Amino acid sequence: DERIVVAVDGPSGSGKSTVSRRLAAAIGGVYLDTGAMYRAVTWAVLEAGADLADPDGITKVALSTDLSIGTDPAAPHIAANGTNVDQPIRGPEVTGAVSAVAAVPAVRRHLVARQQAIIAGQPRIVVEGRDIAGVVAPDADLKVYLTASAAARAARRSTEDATDTAATEADLARRDKLDSSRAADPLRQADDAVEVDTTGMSIDEVVTRLSDLLKSRT
Ligand code: C5P
Repeated sequence: DERIVVAVDGPSGSGKSTVSRRLAAAIGGVYLDTGAMYRAVTWAVLEAGADLADPDGITKVALSTDLSIGTDPAAPHIAANGTNVDQPIRGPEVTGAVSAVAAVPAVRRHLVARQQAIIAGQPRIVVEGRDIAGVVAPDADLKVYLTASAAARAARRSTEDATDTAATEADLARRDKLDSSRAADPLRQADDAVEVDTTGMSIDEVVTRLSDLLKSRT
């Protein structure tokens, strides 16, 4: 079997996106950003004016939102109901609401099914998220759990977002707590995942480490 599926999980700011895109390009595969899917649904929920405290209202919007997902690792993109949302899904409104939307079990079931369909249609894919190894792709060839110190994660995110590091660290801590403590598919390291602490590692070093791990498994 020549198919390759790599699962990359971990908290926000652990370097998942950059590393996953680079690894996907290196193996000639595609890249699926499942966080972007939760963010795009959150964008649609906010657009619809749905109440973030109403799981049924959120679910209704999620199930009726048409997501179009581009998986080219050089230029990933996502559209919701025909609108490209690459920019707004990185803004503070969506970032502030996404953990609440992602905690709704029916939303997760819907997006996990879509993710599994995308994975099934690709010969080589790197999938990044929070529950990939445990829920979305339990048969992945390689499962990686990326971590980094809280300070390193906040420093990376605030460089990306041009916000100050202290505020970013507080926001990451808030989202990690919500993502790890929710009842439905919480963020956690799968038993068979390899933990890679990227604190102090360059992107190249992390990509090389994952490529080596993948070679030893396929
Ligand atoms: O990875 P990113 O920071 O873009 O993810 C945004 C949010 O989407 C996370 O904080 C989490 O609440 C949710 N998420 C999730 N499951 C995934 C990917 C993301 O619950 N597989």
